[in-house]
Amino acid sequence: MSAVPAQGSVSRRGVVAEGVARHFGSVHAVEYMDFQAPAGKVTALIGPNGAGKTTLLLMLASLLRPDAGTIRIDGLDPVHDHAAVRLRIGWMPDTLGVWESLTAREILAQMARFYRLPAGSRDSRVSHLLHTVRLDTLADQPARVLSRGQQQRLSLARAMIHDPSVLLLDEPASGLDPGSRVELRNMLRQLAAAGKAVVVSSHVLSELDEIADGAVFVNQGRTVKQQSLEEAAKEGRRYAITALDTAALTARLREYGLVFRVEDGRRPAVSLLLMDDADASSLLKRLVNDDVGVVSFAPAAGALEETYMTLDAERR
Ligand SMILES: Nc1ncnc2c1ncn2[C@@H]1O[C@H](COP(=O)(O)OP(=O)(O)O)[C@@H](O)[C@H]1O
Ligand SMILES: [Mg+2]
Repeated sequence: MSAVPAQGSVSRRGVVAEGVARHFGSVHAVEYMDFQAPAGKVTALIGPNGAGKTTLLLMLASLLRPDAGTIRIDGLDPVHDHAAVRLRIGWMPDTLGVWESLTAREILAQMARFYRLPAGSRDSRVSHLLHTVRLDTLADQPARVLSRGQQQRLSLARAMIHDPSVLLLDEPASGLDPGSRVELRNMLRQLAAAGKAVVVSSHVLSELDEIADGAVFVNQGRTVKQQSLEEAAKEGRRYAITALDTAALTARLREYGLVFRVEDGRRPAVSLLLMDDADASSLLKRLVNDDVGVVSFAPAAGALEETYMTLDAERR
């Protein structure tokens, strides 16, 4: 069977879901979600615990049937083209699961058999992946002795065994130390650069702000907002400023007619929304010219985080 049917045209590569719903008994885990993740990009699926992220990802992965709505994976319908969709999807659950007594190499070899990779190429594919996720030296240890970061890398390798075009990763950054998170980011950026549609979920936006090209925000089973990083950047970015004398700083900002707020903290910081880098640079220049002792001046949050905070504030 060919994994590349005609309808998988370039323009439809990636994930599109519209009006998707799924309930479990009386629980409406996903009430109505729209979701898009283009090929060549990392798309974040962001929302608090219980928002329906895992349920949506399971439907996208064709592991769970939607009650309503349409899903297309590279133009294919998971409900009708189940087998073809499975070949295109790499699924990384939020835990490694029941495999933990096997070694990393055994887990990947098992997966290679499961996906019916040709017997002659399995070992080299497994070795290649172990190398890609830097687990060569730990390949023959039982998976349970691996650290959280190493288990996540193994889980990513497992999801990639059949070289899928779409990667669905459920909370991949959770529990990772900062170093492992940077490593994960580099790996996901590389996968996107190689043309894959990469979807990552998280309930902690700051984990993904640096990784993602765009984000879909969900809450209580619904899509709240879908936004690319460029769009998010257009809505401005919050900057935090600290000064030797906070009162002098706020007096100047008031004089300039700017809207700001004073944030609590060890050193009181003032934060305000600026439209772009040029705005930021001219404000800094002005403050310095007006003799405000500026100590620090930097983006307070990533562009996507700014959107998230706004949504959060609107909900309250
Ligand atoms: N198999 C299931 N049976 C019953 N309820 C479920 C099941 N899976 C998820 N839920 C419920 O659906 C809601 C969404 O869950 P989930 O998709 O896991 O959210 P998230 O991944 O965003 O934390 C939660 O209220 C959860 O308890
Ligand atoms: Mg979840």
